[in-house]
Amino acid sequence: MLLQTRGCAPTRLLSPFARLFRPYLLQVWGRRSCNVAAIMPEAAGFQGVSDFSELQEFSVSDSESFWAAAARHRLSWTRPFHAVQDCDLRRGKIKWFDGGKLNVSVNCLDRHVHVCPERVALIWEKDEPGSEVKVTYRQLLETTCRLGNLLRRRGVRRGDVVTIYMPPCPMAVASMLACARIGAAHNVVFAGFSAEALADRIRDAQSSTVVTANQGVRGGKVTELKKTVDAAVRSCPSVQQVLVAMRTDNPVAMTAKDVAVEEEMLSEDVACEPVAMESEDVLFLLYTSGSTGPPKGLVHTQAGYLLYAALTHRYVFGYHDGDVFGCVADIGWITGHSYAVYGPLANGGTTVLFESTPLYPDPGRYWETVQRLKINQFYGAPTAIRLLLKYGDHWVRKYDRSTLKTLGSVGEPINTEAWEWYHRVVGDGRCAVVDTWWQTETGGICISPRPSDPDAEIVPGMAMRPFFGIEPVIMDPEGKVLTSKETSGALCIAQPWPGMARSIHRDHQRFVETYCQPYPGYFHTGDGARRSKEGYYKITGRLDDVINVSGHRIGTAEIEDVVNQCGAVAESAIVGYSHDIKGEGVYAFVVLKKGVEVDEADLSRQLKDMVSKKIAKYACPDFIQLVQVLPKTRSGKIMRRVLRKVAEQEFNGLGDLSTLDDPAAVQKIIQGRRDSGAK
Ligand code: WT7
Repeated sequence: MLLQTRGCAPTRLLSPFARLFRPYLLQVWGRRSCNVAAIMPEAAGFQGVSDFSELQEFSVSDSESFWAAAARHRLSWTRPFHAVQDCDLRRGKIKWFDGGKLNVSVNCLDRHVHVCPERVALIWEKDEPGSEVKVTYRQLLETTCRLGNLLRRRGVRRGDVVTIYMPPCPMAVASMLACARIGAAHNVVFAGFSAEALADRIRDAQSSTVVTANQGVRGGKVTELKKTVDAAVRSCPSVQQVLVAMRTDNPVAMTAKDVAVEEEMLSEDVACEPVAMESEDVLFLLYTSGSTGPPKGLVHTQAGYLLYAALTHRYVFGYHDGDVFGCVADIGWITGHSYAVYGPLANGGTTVLFESTPLYPDPGRYWETVQRLKINQFYGAPTAIRLLLKYGDHWVRKYDRSTLKTLGSVGEPINTEAWEWYHRVVGDGRCAVVDTWWQTETGGICISPRPSDPDAEIVPGMAMRPFFGIEPVIMDPEGKVLTSKETSGALCIAQPWPGMARSIHRDHQRFVETYCQPYPGYFHTGDGARRSKEGYYKITGRLDDVINVSGHRIGTAEIEDVVNQCGAVAESAIVGYSHDIKGEGVYAFVVLKKGVEVDEADLSRQLKDMVSKKIAKYACPDFIQLVQVLPKTRSGKIMRRVLRKVAEQEFNGLGDLSTLDDPAAVQKIIQGRRDSGAK
């Protein structure tokens, strides 16, 4: 179970007679203090806190004491902080642990090497089942130091941004930690992004150094990572060097800028002096899509991020020393950052880096991996669960899953059917299933069923409860906080927490406008939520023009930008529609230029090709519908609400169409949708 009440008498086990005397027994056994210490050792000194809900309340009402205790207990500081926080959400000013200095790589490596050098830090679950590679803390520190020295010798300085374009592998993790060691920020770009998308991110980050691998291997297929980097770098004048690690034995053409990582590392020292970083120095950038504009480089900083990742990893999943933690997300997303790398390593844990896919070589892959690696906590995405569910229970039951304790879900709402299957079949009805809600912006999990009393209920398909220090609120469209328990509206967070993003790289104003101004004084998440009469939260999805495809976020405006570049296209509107496996799929309404005639199948192929070249495969439209005009208001704004309904084939209840410039246009679009017969 997640949290043990070691040395305490669980109330459940008391006889009715003993229950009568509970207050007395509690005094005798000292339950008040021992229980809290068992929940969270750092909370032992908090006055008047005796259970989970009181601890949650305390963490919000006296968040300074809470976070100060957590930061002192969980992180190793080079210099102690003098202020816990200095935040003003209205102005987008967010500072935690000011005055404090520390090094993130020391917190993730050195301090564990001192205690248990031979403990396994990483299990690299390579694409071919059975070929996993284990890396101890001592080995990971050595590699990190060599890489840190190499980067330093090649001119990377504190404050520089290093772009990492690699699949999940120890070298990628060592690169992230090497940056942290020498004070550079990393910018990991998901290795499924196209050359152009990579180039956009390198340029915005102004990176002079890129780290990549010769090739990638996923689902039995080889991808040409280095070639993609070559193509990207051609339009990135800032790039001076590309460090190339060898994932496969196949040589790749090297240019004057390229550095053979493994060869050069050999001559580097195995010790590398860590830089003492200020709490609020940048740890990494991570690009993500918004509803408008180009992808934004969210900025996360050192101490607060690491503390939040570590604490959520420990308490949401019930991670204990010696457990094997299996987060199957790619390191190119925030989930990989916080729960494949930083959270587990800060806790001295053993973490799995999953290189493959849920279907390779067959739909039993996840569970065969669980059996072979003896995974205790498994963290995955609803889209994969829905996919595997369709292949049947036998792919799961074939394998021994008795090591599993907690099953996590992230990235999108998990539907009840998938939740039940995850719980009943994968977890044999015995594991806690935690639906965890959070975002790239929040740095770590904000709403999830745990931590809570291990005996407390978990409702299927609900993220349920705020994490320590998180105060969710639900707003009406006018910005009024809805105070009644049972309600729904826009989800905001009422006070800052250490893990939250601090800014958007080179555009703090955009950060303030996007997250701080819509509801002044509150952090605006962009998601809708419902609160039940019990006070539990259910996240209902994005309220803005962001689509969530297989748990990956993409802005409709970004796809429209690409589609509109096609010579035949006059304009387009992209909307999301519900998809069985992906959660949401991409649907494109396209208006052709006057007089242009095209073969629809050709156009569809061309547009898909353009989107996958300019963004990534996952952003490709599933359906393209040609229309004469788009439904627009008289002021020229596309009425996406209507288009979303049409894509869903919900032709009734389209709402108020009176502000439309040409209400008849909608009928034609509906007819087109009916005729297409798609879905
Ligand atoms: C968006 C954030 C968090 C890491 C992976 C995605 C949606 C995420 C849930 C959940 C319902 C969820 C939200 C959020 N989302 N988790 N448990 N239930 N929706 O990170 O790319 O930053 O996307 O994913 O809409 O805003 P991201």
